[in-house]
Amino acid sequence: MRSWIGISVGIELILSRDVFLWTQRTDDCFGLTSATKTVQSSRGEPVQDQITRCHHTHNTMLGCSLRGGCSPLVFLWALLLLPPLVSPHSLNEQHGSRSHSVKDKPKLLLVSFDGFRWDYIDRVPTPNFRLLMDEGVTVEQVENIYITKTFPNHYTLVTGLYAETHGIVANEMYDPTLNRSFSIETESIYDPRWWEEAVPLWVTIQKSGGRSGAAMWPGSDVKIHGMFPSQFLPYNSSVSFETRVGRIIDWFSAPKEDAVDFGVLYWEEPDESGHLLGPQSSLMDAVIAGIDEKLGFLINELKKAGLFEKVNLIVTSDHGMTQLFADNIIELDEYVSRDLYTLVDRSPVVGILPKEGKLSEVYDKLVDANPNMMVYKKEEIPTRFHYQHSVRIMPIVLEAKEGWTIMQNRSGPFMLGNHGYDNTLRSMQPVFVARGPAFRQDYVKTTMRSVDLYPLMCHILSIRPLPNNGSLANVQDLLSPDSAPPAPSAPPRVDEYSYAPVVGSFLSVVMVLGFLVVYVREVTLKQLPSLKHRRREMSQPLLQEDLHL
Ligand SMILES: *[C@@H]1O[C@H](CO)[C@@H](O)[C@H](O)[C@H]1NC(C)=O
Ligand SMILES: *[C@@H]1O[C@H](CO)[C@@H](O)[C@H](O)[C@H]1NC(C)=O
Ligand SMILES: *[C@@H]1O[C@H](CO)[C@@H](O)[C@H](O)[C@H]1NC(C)=O
Ligand SMILES: *[C@@H]1O[C@H](CO)[C@@H](O)[C@H](O)[C@H]1NC(C)=O
Ligand SMILES: [Zn+2]
Repeated sequence: MRSWIGISVGIELILSRDVFLWTQRTDDCFGLTSATKTVQSSRGEPVQDQITRCHHTHNTMLGCSLRGGCSPLVFLWALLLLPPLVSPHSLNEQHGSRSHSVKDKPKLLLVSFDGFRWDYIDRVPTPNFRLLMDEGVTVEQVENIYITKTFPNHYTLVTGLYAETHGIVANEMYDPTLNRSFSIETESIYDPRWWEEAVPLWVTIQKSGGRSGAAMWPGSDVKIHGMFPSQFLPYNSSVSFETRVGRIIDWFSAPKEDAVDFGVLYWEEPDESGHLLGPQSSLMDAVIAGIDEKLGFLINELKKAGLFEKVNLIVTSDHGMTQLFADNIIELDEYVSRDLYTLVDRSPVVGILPKEGKLSEVYDKLVDANPNMMVYKKEEIPTRFHYQHSVRIMPIVLEAKEGWTIMQNRSGPFMLGNHGYDNTLRSMQPVFVARGPAFRQDYVKTTMRSVDLYPLMCHILSIRPLPNNGSLANVQDLLSPDSAPPAPSAPPRVDEYSYAPVVGSFLSVVMVLGFLVVYVREVTLKQLPSLKHRRREMSQPLLQEDLHL
């Protein structure tokens, strides 16, 4: 099918007079050589410590308070009191090894088909997406983050942060503090300093004792805060989807102590074809059908490995795609000399770094230059974009209107499809379906924000989320009401789990002490010689009953 698409693309390119020379990879194809280079981080930002599994066992406390000086009788009495007072969760966990059908560790696989726009599923028959929708949940409208480019959005999915906070503000960046440039087409992406303003979910999971596996997810072959995913593939665009799936399946089905809890899987299509053909091209139909087949392959492999009913599967994307028109080009050279600024990143949202002292001059020349281009001083960028508070956002930001392309002149590469525009445009928004034990069935939700996915995934995995811009409350209705994930994370439950065992232990101690007081009083009122005898009589039946508990 690939070669068929290739031929069709060739024909379409020949037929279309509007197409400029296709000289470069699309901005999203981060075609890097795969050798992983570890660059020393000189920043050494402290890694937050509160990364812990949400659930702890608290019941050791009572054991300690009872240790020493307690007669066997008192100890048994305390045991009788204990069970209802300790949180049921702690008990479940304690007995987890015995009834492991209930206690299987939650599993989650996050899949991104790059550039899969939300409405592609309705364009051609997509039986595999339908299967997940029927047996799981669909979100019709997912507001992703600005800018709607690949790297910023993929990092948001695994951090729950806007780009201004997680630091991957574009596919091409300049950081004046580091005096460094980042480009998805160079080895610069392996410098951890670009990534370490946030902590991706795989790192958090591993710091709390879990394991993760990554097949080509942006950033997943970079050593971030000193860690790679437990299992990962170095980026190599030539590695087939089927190979990536094979590795993911291996990682999930490894022996208990080696198996991953969380997997991420990335595939370059339909983004590449969308850029090349434009989403309106009828040739995209076959590309979309091809993605559905890929999803079918994944489902089938999960079934064959006995994982389909255990793994929570989320299928989404980073952004959508919109049609471009060759007449809709904004040429910056017409308005301002290249000598006055450095251009950072590519259409449709570009950063302008004016030369020393040239900010006002450049801004004045651009601000009313073209009605199809928004020109923002950094401090004027609309707050709804949450795209301001980072040194990596340039002093002037230009944003093309949908369908328009910003270039310095027409000699650069031109594409028929692109993304990166305003994240409230429907065309920029991704698909979202999910299925598995944690999710409801046949449920459709109207809207969510992509930052909400992170707290949702943390909840499913029983991981305490780091501070983020999402909200579990916004997406909790996606979760199956009868699947009680082994760990809690909504605020009331956090309280319950923090205090219930403590309160329970305290009450137990109080009752034990109360019993002691009564017991001692009773004993002191009696004749000393009869003590041993009485005690044996009293304790014998109790002991026997208790043994059956
Ligand atoms: C930034 O780095 C370049 C070389 O990449 C160097 O020429 C320039 O002087 C540096 N600028 C500052 C302010 O350090
Ligand atoms: C990338 O993957 C292809 C296909 O598996 C392989 O032939 C090639 O050697 C890989 N490239 C690198 C740099 O590992
Ligand atoms: C466009 O810019 C390039 C440099 O990037 C230059 O070589 C070329 O001559 C320019 N073309 C036109 C038509 O101005
Ligand atoms: C996003 O979350 C981070 C971490 O809690 C916070 O520092 C930042 O201010 C938040 N951004 C917004 C727009 O709320
Ligand atoms: Zn993308």
